[in-house]
Amino acid sequence: TENEMKRRVLEIKKKLGSKLFLLGHHYQKDEVYEFADAVGDSLQLAQIAAENREAEHIVFCGVHFMAETADILTAENQKVILPDMRAGCSMADMATIQQTEKAWPVLQDLFGDTIIPLTYVNSTAAIKSFVGEHDGATVTSSNAKNMVEWAFSKKERILFLPDQHLGRNTAYDLGVGLDEMAIWNPIEEMLEYEGDINNIKVILWKGHCSVHENFTVKNIDYLREKQPDMNIIVHPECSYEVVQKSDYAGSTKYIIDTIEKAPSGSKWAIGTEMNLVKRIINSQPDKEIVSLNPYMCPCLTMNRIDLPHLLWALESIEEGTEVNQIKVDKHTAQGAIKALTNMLERA
Ligand code: 13P
Ligand code: SF4
Repeated sequence: TENEMKRRVLEIKKKLGSKLFLLGHHYQKDEVYEFADAVGDSLQLAQIAAENREAEHIVFCGVHFMAETADILTAENQKVILPDMRAGCSMADMATIQQTEKAWPVLQDLFGDTIIPLTYVNSTAAIKSFVGEHDGATVTSSNAKNMVEWAFSKKERILFLPDQHLGRNTAYDLGVGLDEMAIWNPIEEMLEYEGDINNIKVILWKGHCSVHENFTVKNIDYLREKQPDMNIIVHPECSYEVVQKSDYAGSTKYIIDTIEKAPSGSKWAIGTEMNLVKRIINSQPDKEIVSLNPYMCPCLTMNRIDLPHLLWALESIEEGTEVNQIKVDKHTAQGAIKALTNMLERA
């Protein structure tokens, strides 16, 4: 039963003490989230993982790329465990290292040595490594602006992987015009742009988040008509049009903080992942809060981490036969750490 499983999780946590460290992303289900020793967005979790030098096992309740980052930032003897290997990220899957290695020489031919690569942390360790080896950096939604500014202080142009929306929204906020942004189509292996390519400042990888794509201009228009006093707040993984029509846009942490600080009685429609939206609704009963998309939008891969998988992973650690270790090879980790350090030094 659920209660029995919860009791066992607590028992193992108590037994292993500080040798076990459980991290939980804000998008995790409550049944898992409640057991986390530390929770946060992807930047906070990367920082927290990097600081822990005590735990022998770090159980990462989140998705694969986050567990890879934790492995890269922790010590050699610390093992990172992902309770379900199927917990990937469809956005991270939209940029493979093979595609990136094909794109780069084409872009070099077009633009010479004027491009610096930036990758959203929602990407494989191999891509982070490629970016690090080319003197670029990782970014998260909470530091994207700073990192894009940093990149422009180094080079004239940026290749932004793999989320076109975060890239476009961030660059636009910094004054880059939409007509100065091109799209790299990794399937067709070509640049999508109309005009003189010398005007291009940002090359957006053609990737997106299948969860945040579900928040639409139609959702906003409907709400504006029915409930004009609602504040609309969305994650910058939403499209440019949605971000422009919203009242506020920002990272997971920004969304949580903004609503927490908002006056009692205020009304909010949130455009981000469902588990987080539900948790905000439950924790702030003095405000009227809804999902911007009434059908609610779960991240199916985040949801693969559930109580049975968590318990299964913990029991394997207890028995000394741990399952699902995420291990990034040394060579890849060396490159990725350069990209992550370029970010963490400025985050
Ligand atoms: P943040 O936690 O950085 O806001 O990222 C959101 C997300 O989509 C995680 O996969
Ligand atoms: Fe990936 Fe989107 Fe899920 Fe985040 S919410 S893990 S970006 S699919």
